[in-house]
Amino acid sequence: MSNVHELNFLKEKIQGLKDDGVYRKLPVLGGANDSEVILDGKKVINLSSNNYLGFANHPRLKKAAIEAVEKYGAGAGAVRTIVGNMDIHEELEGLLAEFKREEAAFIYQSGFNCNAGTIQAITEKGDLIISDELNHASIIDGSRLSKADKTIYKHSDIDHLEKVLKENRDKYNNILIITDGVFSMDGDIAKLPEIVELAEKYEAMTYVDDAHGSGVLGESGRGTVDHFNLHGRVDFSIGTLSKAIGVVGGYVAGSETMYQWLNHRARPVLFSTSLPPAAVGAIMEAIRMLMESTEYTDRLWDNAKYFKSKLGKLGFDTGHSETPITPVIIGDEAKTMEFSRKLLENGVFVSGIVFPTVPRGTGRVRCMVTAAHTKEQLDKAVEIFEKVGKEMNILG
Ligand SMILES: Cc1ncc(COP(=O)(O)O)c(C=O)c1O
Repeated sequence: MSNVHELNFLKEKIQGLKDDGVYRKLPVLGGANDSEVILDGKKVINLSSNNYLGFANHPRLKKAAIEAVEKYGAGAGAVRTIVGNMDIHEELEGLLAEFKREEAAFIYQSGFNCNAGTIQAITEKGDLIISDELNHASIIDGSRLSKADKTIYKHSDIDHLEKVLKENRDKYNNILIITDGVFSMDGDIAKLPEIVELAEKYEAMTYVDDAHGSGVLGESGRGTVDHFNLHGRVDFSIGTLSKAIGVVGGYVAGSETMYQWLNHRARPVLFSTSLPPAAVGAIMEAIRMLMESTEYTDRLWDNAKYFKSKLGKLGFDTGHSETPITPVIIGDEAKTMEFSRKLLENGVFVSGIVFPTVPRGTGRVRCMVTAAHTKEQLDKAVEIFEKVGKEMNILG
């Protein structure tokens, strides 16, 4: 018998990944995440980040981070419930609530953590979670941590959601409907007005994970709830501080009651150290910038429309995206990864996304256009797409 510490069971699985052609090394950045990056030692146009507004390397955020470090130090030093709750944490929550036009906002160390902590805290045995089938992994994991029953509805299928609600309403105490605000692989927006109407009809609560809507949709990036003017009608509005906001962290915006409960029961906040001062300082600067002007979100949308229309005119299938997320659907998994590799060789980094992240046969490269890209960079990227597309017979 082999020694268990040799981890042969894992070695076999790793060999399986290699046999399936999906074993990979992580790409290494040799500098900041910006519209161009040094990737594995080579300068390339970056169409893979979630840095929608170009804030990750923005001078104002960097200055604010340094100032926060000078005043508050490098780390928060404890969980919030002991001695890690600094005045800037509470200031940030106040600012986020004002920005989101909600009563309160409660911060977490990441968007992932926010879903992992919030869902289990607000549901219990006897409740039902109804989740869109394409919801993010952190919602799936967060739901698994809950003692409530779980079921899914077909992606954005309102009739199916109603059927599930009708069949289950009388069997459960509370029902929580969870949807992404913007679906990250296709860039489509949740049908939130219809979902909210059904929730009101069947007395269910609503939970929107707006990781890709925050900083993107709504007035100056206030999110999907603002985009549809549904303030006060969505119970839990989740956002990340790591994508458009450019730093790290997550939050849930909603009522004062929600805030008070999470303050006592959100496990990532009870059992994990709070956000470091540098992050908090930089995030607050980002939110202030969005409250001052729509300049950043305007540029993001302008760039996204420009790029999407150029790819479409060339004949690429860019799916049904309604947001800056621009998938270029290739289909076959191996061909998708080959396309991504060739784009990189030619100077554009666009990650290939294949099964199991998306359904089999719908492999795509996912282009993330940002406010930081120049028109010259976007033109160059389109040129490279055309060249590689023709070489690989993706374009006629
Ligand atoms: C829909 C959604 N929710 C949550 C997360 C997690 O956010 P974070 O990266 O801030 O942990 C992501 C990030 O991939 C996401 O796309």
